[in-house]
Amino acid sequence: MADFLKKGAFYLAPMSGYTDAAFREIAMECGADVCVSEFVHARAVLSKAPKVLEKLRIDVLARPCGIQLFGGDEFEMADAASFAEEYAKPDFIDINYGCPAPNAVGAGAGSALLKDVPQMVKIAKKVKGALKKIPLTAKMRTGWGAESVLPKAALELEGAGVEVLAVHGRSKNQGYRGDADWAIIEKTAECLSIPVVGNGSVEKLSGAELRGSACFGFMVGRAAVGNPWIFGEIKAKLNGEIFIPPASEKRIATALKYLEKSLQNQGENTLKAIRANLIAFARGHRGFKKIRLALANSKTIEDAYAVLKGFLNE
Ligand SMILES: Cc1cc2nc3c(=O)[nH]c(=O)nc-3n(C[C@H](O)[C@H](O)[C@H](O)COP(=O)(O)O)c2cc1C
Repeated sequence: MADFLKKGAFYLAPMSGYTDAAFREIAMECGADVCVSEFVHARAVLSKAPKVLEKLRIDVLARPCGIQLFGGDEFEMADAASFAEEYAKPDFIDINYGCPAPNAVGAGAGSALLKDVPQMVKIAKKVKGALKKIPLTAKMRTGWGAESVLPKAALELEGAGVEVLAVHGRSKNQGYRGDADWAIIEKTAECLSIPVVGNGSVEKLSGAELRGSACFGFMVGRAAVGNPWIFGEIKAKLNGEIFIPPASEKRIATALKYLEKSLQNQGENTLKAIRANLIAFARGHRGFKKIRLALANSKTIEDAYAVLKGFLNE
């Protein structure tokens, strides 16, 4: 079994536009056990453009962390995995078989592969063969439409050398709407010998459901945006403990810390990339509407810093 994964581990889900290196570090401080980069197209990795290399950044405090790749061509995927392994020294490489975005699907990647299981398997085998030291993991949805490809496709991925499989219990057609199908996730976890990580509104599961799950770990997505403390909250539920939510000031102070880390990582052009996260951190703070407006109108990183500092000192 993959060394980085402990039973009951909680993953921060990869979320493009939100889970950058700075946010991952904060999520790990707040109780996430494993994280994954935002998805990166294999061809973009091979371009080695500075903006793409920044996406491959993994900070010491945010490990274990995987790099997630997407692409429809097995050769490009294998070359990108090989480069990412050397360059970023991730703890694992993850393949995305779930992105429903039209540009990914149009390129025969992400969810498009759910309609072509043989190609899914071909990619996994080729990437596995390209990795020297680290494990291969994958993340998939239940299928393209109502008819699920699980557990059959998952068993084939296991046979291809995937060592951990995250299952998002929604189909491509569902997008992010509606309830995740935890019956399919559980069935897949029971059928596979490799660890399965369950994903899809995990925060809505009861303590008993979490404890009774056949999943080896759980992955939390949107509930962690602006609220990395969700990991502590779900773990408390799992263990039957009381969770004390962070005070409003703590949320704003964490937003400031996130801003500072982002600035160190990405430099002056960072505001556009992190504005949504800053606003999410402030949600629930008194005067949230005013903060949101002020952050939306901030032109520079200094403006955003002053907005948050002002509310912290109020
Ligand atoms: C804004 C956004 C960006 C996402 N980006 C990725 C991504 O880069 N790679 C990926 O595998 N999934 C991505 N996802 C899907 C999440 O990882 C997760 O599977 C999904 O949100 C379901 O989990 P949740 O119900 O806990 O939010 C994204 C989701 C959202 C909302």
